[in-house]
Amino acid sequence: MTKTVKKAVFPAAGLGTRFLPATKASPKEMLPIVDKPLIQYAVEEAERYNIKEFIMITGKSKRAIEDHFDYAWELEENLKSKGKAAMLEEIRRLSQHQFAYIRQGAPLGLGHAILCAKPFVKDEPFAVILSDDIIDPEDDLLGKMLHIYDKYQATVLALERVPKEEVNRYGIIAGEEVKKNVFKITDMVEKPKASSAPSDIAIIGRYILTPDIFSVLEKTPPGKGGEIQLTDALKGLLHNKPVYGYLFNGKRYDAGDKFGYLKATVEFALKNETVKDEFREYLLSAVIPRLNKEL
Ligand code: G1P
Repeated sequence: MTKTVKKAVFPAAGLGTRFLPATKASPKEMLPIVDKPLIQYAVEEAERYNIKEFIMITGKSKRAIEDHFDYAWELEENLKSKGKAAMLEEIRRLSQHQFAYIRQGAPLGLGHAILCAKPFVKDEPFAVILSDDIIDPEDDLLGKMLHIYDKYQATVLALERVPKEEVNRYGIIAGEEVKKNVFKITDMVEKPKASSAPSDIAIIGRYILTPDIFSVLEKTPPGKGGEIQLTDALKGLLHNKPVYGYLFNGKRYDAGDKFGYLKATVEFALKNETVKDEFREYLLSAVIPRLNKEL
């Protein structure tokens, strides 16, 4: 029987060291791009595909994530009394879904984080969304992946070509293109050196996984960096099950990195209804002329 994807897992236990000191006491997932935290973009992306059960894998100093998706009685009363209906609706909407929080306890890696979700996922397929990787809301990446999942009833990874000097930042695959932009994966390796990488095709932060992954994860020893790697478990899964990948050609921002975060901020500000005109005018009249003068 085919099962639809109704649940999404959001690993959010990382220390966020690349954004210190901002992330010393508050989660990196709560860093805003214009007016929404990274984790909200991730949740809204899943919501667009009718996924309404959200499983957050959190850790120390991550309580703000729970508060963010909870009802905020005082704030809601305040907005109501001021007649701010649109903002009230915006604040309330996501709290109506189901959220579960699991503490990872120790930073033992992405594979371990996914394994922590097992009691909540049970025997259903599920999406994994890494909130560091922001996908432009106009791109249909998760929709394409869900379509491939429906067709093959198998694991699907999001893929993107990356420059050779960046392969050591990603899981890298080898595979055969079976349909335009659809790969049947034959091998994968976590963060290889450029000289030994099987290709320039990287795994990016979206996965559709089947519950088969849990038993493999349980047997996966620590890999790169001493952590239990999801890539290693997916490679193990290949022995028994097919794994597919969808090669994404749209816009992704690596908001886990300062430059990627700034790019996302500029691009999203240029699309945000409340600031886009002023921001554009500011860039054109003040920033660009000054940069041109410096050239
Ligand atoms: C993780 C995965 C890696 C993947 C990447 C995508 O790495 O381990 O395979 O390519 O996410 O963003 P991280 O970025 O957590 O180091």
